[in-house]
Amino acid sequence: MSIRSRSRLLALLACLLVPAAAFAQATASRPSAPQDLGQRLKDIERDPKLLDQYYRNGRKVAAFCANCHGEGGNSLKPDIPNLAGQNTAYLLDQVRQFGDGRRRNEFMEGLIKAMSADEKLAVAVYYAGQEVDHKPAANIRLAMQGKTYYDKICFRCHGEQGRGSERYARVAGQQADYLSRTLKRYRDGSGGRIDPLMAANTRTMKDEDIAAVVAYIASMK
Ligand code: HEC
Ligand code: HEC
Repeated sequence: MSIRSRSRLLALLACLLVPAAAFAQATASRPSAPQDLGQRLKDIERDPKLLDQYYRNGRKVAAFCANCHGEGGNSLKPDIPNLAGQNTAYLLDQVRQFGDGRRRNEFMEGLIKAMSADEKLAVAVYYAGQEVDHKPAANIRLAMQGKTYYDKICFRCHGEQGRGSERYARVAGQQADYLSRTLKRYRDGSGGRIDPLMAANTRTMKDEDIAAVVAYIASMK
């Protein structure tokens, strides 16, 4: 990690620690030993009071994430993903992947290592509750071509509306450049992000297919 990104990370940690201290106090009665985040998420989702507490703390942590992922998780940068409306289980899984190095991004890897389990759960709860801004397709013909492709293959896991599920990522309304880079990474197996299901489903995609599918997905509500 470069000195510049290290000092940025330290500045970030200082921002995160303030809400973290209050949050740790608020959740002190909860067990804090390492445990399955998925199971903890289910417990939180079952308890409306606790869910609200995590949501409010997630909003505080997200104030930092907004520098890149945008207010409420609607990114303004085409190569940085929206987090708004993303499924909690998927968010936590990606956080886990950055944490153990399966998914590579220097900044995100460093950041995730610096976050507590409660902060991870809190941001996931917060972002899942945000609405995605709708961006209509600029090229409707291309998007319609992409719809044909999507409705043949992708809908099986990501859903007809692109909202995903507990298990699969929401793709609807995602940032175009990010989608395109992500799909090419899966297809080319060039590292950074490896997934057998997505490798199998992108293997035969030409760059033109990717452009069309991206135009469609990015314009989904
Ligand atoms: C300096 C910019 C930056 C900041 C700040 C930042 N991120 Fe990220 N984040 C990124 C980039 C870039 C990616 C995409 C990495 C890739 O291409 O794999 C990303 C990806 C993610 C993903 C994966 C999204 C997906 O759709 O798969 C999650 C989850 C995430 N970040 C959570 C967070 C959280 C939570 C915070 C705040 C605690 C945060 N990020 C702060 C730059 C940032
Ligand atoms: C058999 C199930 C399956 C099918 C079919 C499938 N996907 Fe996926 N997709 C997944 C899984 C699982 C992941 C998460 C992989 C990971 O952790 O990196 C994923 C992740 C993604 C992501 C990353 C989301 C993000 O926020 O970073 C995109 C984009 C995506 N898929 C698009 C597509 C498109 C486009 C198609 C059709 C060509 C497709 N998928 C077909 C299972 C599937």
